[in-house]
Amino acid sequence: MRQPALTTTASFQALASHAADAKHWQLRQLFAADAQRFPKLTVDAAGLFLDYSKNRLDATTVGLLLDLARERGVERQRDAMLSGEKINLTEQRAVLHTALRMPRGKALVVDGQDINADVHAVLDHVKEFTDRVRNGQWLGYSGKQITDIVNIGIGGSDLGPKMAVLALRSYAHPRLKMHFVSNVDGHDMDAALAQVHPETTLFIIASKTFTTAETMLNAGTARNWFLQSGGKHEDLARHFVAVSTNTKAVAEFGIDTTNMFPFWDWVGGRYSVWSAIGLSVALAVGFGYFNDFLAGAHAMDEHFREAPLEQNMPVLLAMVGFWNRQFLNAGSLSIAPYHQDLNRFPAYLQQLDMESNGKRVTRGGGEVDTVTCPVVWGECGTNAQHAYFQLLHQGTDVTPIDFIAALRATHDLAGHHDALLANCFAQSEAFMKGKTADEVRADLAGSNLSAEEIDALVPHKTFPGNRPSNTILMDQLTPGALGALIALYEHKTFVQGVIWDVNSFDQWGVELGKVLAKNIQSELSGEVKPERHDSSTNGLIFMAKAAQHI
Ligand code: F6P
Repeated sequence: MRQPALTTTASFQALASHAADAKHWQLRQLFAADAQRFPKLTVDAAGLFLDYSKNRLDATTVGLLLDLARERGVERQRDAMLSGEKINLTEQRAVLHTALRMPRGKALVVDGQDINADVHAVLDHVKEFTDRVRNGQWLGYSGKQITDIVNIGIGGSDLGPKMAVLALRSYAHPRLKMHFVSNVDGHDMDAALAQVHPETTLFIIASKTFTTAETMLNAGTARNWFLQSGGKHEDLARHFVAVSTNTKAVAEFGIDTTNMFPFWDWVGGRYSVWSAIGLSVALAVGFGYFNDFLAGAHAMDEHFREAPLEQNMPVLLAMVGFWNRQFLNAGSLSIAPYHQDLNRFPAYLQQLDMESNGKRVTRGGGEVDTVTCPVVWGECGTNAQHAYFQLLHQGTDVTPIDFIAALRATHDLAGHHDALLANCFAQSEAFMKGKTADEVRADLAGSNLSAEEIDALVPHKTFPGNRPSNTILMDQLTPGALGALIALYEHKTFVQGVIWDVNSFDQWGVELGKVLAKNIQSELSGEVKPERHDSSTNGLIFMAKAAQHI
């Protein structure tokens, strides 16, 4: 159904006039005025807890935001996605990553195909294969057990598995060392190959399309290295497996298709960690924990499907994010995991959010009439505090932050976890409250500074505060909690896409650069005479060619 332009909807206009008032609100006053603010503006789901009370909004704002969600058809479109309608309009595909984490036996038939049976047949293969590698039955060509696994993939075929393997470090098999090679830059492959031995290394070539230039070049390099360092052609099957939707290309590459783990075009790359693309995760933590990871995501899916919007965590997270983006003009969203094992989570969310909603055209083909996806970035706390939090506290832009923490650590080192959580909670308090000039003066009153010196210092030591944040808590960073956390953000992204009326499931914006790179690559390698580019591009190509001939 064609959506009206967002700014013309009644609920957007109601929000806009409410925002004219709300932009003068101070978080300090909102907390002082309502002792129940925390219980009112928090929600539990699937083992996660979301505190969105430190945002510049109140219950009326939330009501108006949910009116907008209803008017834009969030519930209808959610149900369309979950039931397998072809909501990815530009590619005429269903969007069914949620089917990848459905328990066995849940009926889901799309285009006459029993999706649930297909998914579980591949999961059975993943289990059988990962069990054999982990328990040492799967041997390399010289009869030794596998010690190193190199996942070769990029974008969604890298970011999800790499993030999850790191996040679940505490659950990993002690013999298996995981490596991830994504970049076309040979330094990436070079660094990985320097650490592994052909007799004991398993390569996973992970690519939905099996045509991505970076992955194909890296896969070829790995195969050459294997063949030049002792492996023979007939040994390839023990050392190379593939995860893809493209059986023909996998076979052409020389991988035995009995060692291929398929998935389907209804799984977007950035939503694919739940599919066989998660093979490296299952190898690292074992199929039992991989199943827990899927179950955690499924629990969030069920919550998203069933909870009323007022208590629906992904919907609330999405609408609060929309409020900050639209009415506070927040151009970026900073992700601050207070958990070192979530180190790659901000990078993972960058692709999830920005490749999904970094769009300026509506599903109907018109221009969107508002801003869309903010820039997503971040780094683990407390490291971030000593790098860029200065700007977030006292800079000119307002940047909302998502704090993410586990209440209990997965290590037993004394003292660390309280120190970590203290910093996490202190930061969200500081962003909310700030520090007034009077408070700064009161602090300095007992010092031996002169009145003039105090006057000079006060503006520098004042914090405006009133800076929005969410806090997402889990008990521990378990496979289930990680699954729920990722699914939370997937559904948040979906809801925002519905509000903006963009197709969150295509990514045409990555194509132009790919085509131009192909042209320039053939110019650099001398096969084709340099095309007439602009003077800058011509100049850069000339410099690279000249340097390579030195
Ligand atoms: O170029 C962007 C993209 O298509 C991503 O959406 C995707 O995750 C990545 O490339 C890798 O694609 P593939 O898994 O097909 O190699």
